[in-house]
Amino acid sequence: MSIAQDGDELVRPEVDAALVALDQAQRAAIGEGVFVFSSYRSYATQSSIYQGFVNQYGQAEADTTSARPGHSEHQTGLAVDVVGTSGVARLNVAFSTTPSGQWLAANAWQHGFVVRYPNGLEGITGYEYEPWHLRFVGVELATAMTQSGAQTLEEHLGLPAAPNYG
Ligand code: DAL
Ligand code: ZN
Repeated sequence: MSIAQDGDELVRPEVDAALVALDQAQRAAIGEGVFVFSSYRSYATQSSIYQGFVNQYGQAEADTTSARPGHSEHQTGLAVDVVGTSGVARLNVAFSTTPSGQWLAANAWQHGFVVRYPNGLEGITGYEYEPWHLRFVGVELATAMTQSGAQTLEEHLGLPAAPNYG
């Protein structure tokens, strides 16, 4: 893995290649690369992360920000949590206002990534805004979704909203 200042992310090979291209493109555009701080998670890891949220906030609130084990995109090797290499606003909604957050929101689709949990659409995706969580869907689908104007995979694919586990 050749992303500067990183190297421990674990993703599928096609995602790895796309991340290299994403990092280079962002670096060329704004002088700051893409740092991956969370990638593939095992069931056990997701369990422990989710349980941490439950312990701190209770299950109802945990469910709006953390996926139950068995349900996280991170378990597929297709999702990453990122921040600019400056590290500004890591794991914070304010990331959306940083140069990296803005560049990714506008351009990540060109490399096959979508911001999976957009602002104000938790009624559809089931999760609050996560400007740092990118899901790799491939350039073809990401391009089609951008052209259609759909903000979520649910809307673009005609899937029912998934606000909860019910
Ligand atoms: N934070 C996202 C929803 C996850 O846990 O996969
Ligand atoms: Zn994530």
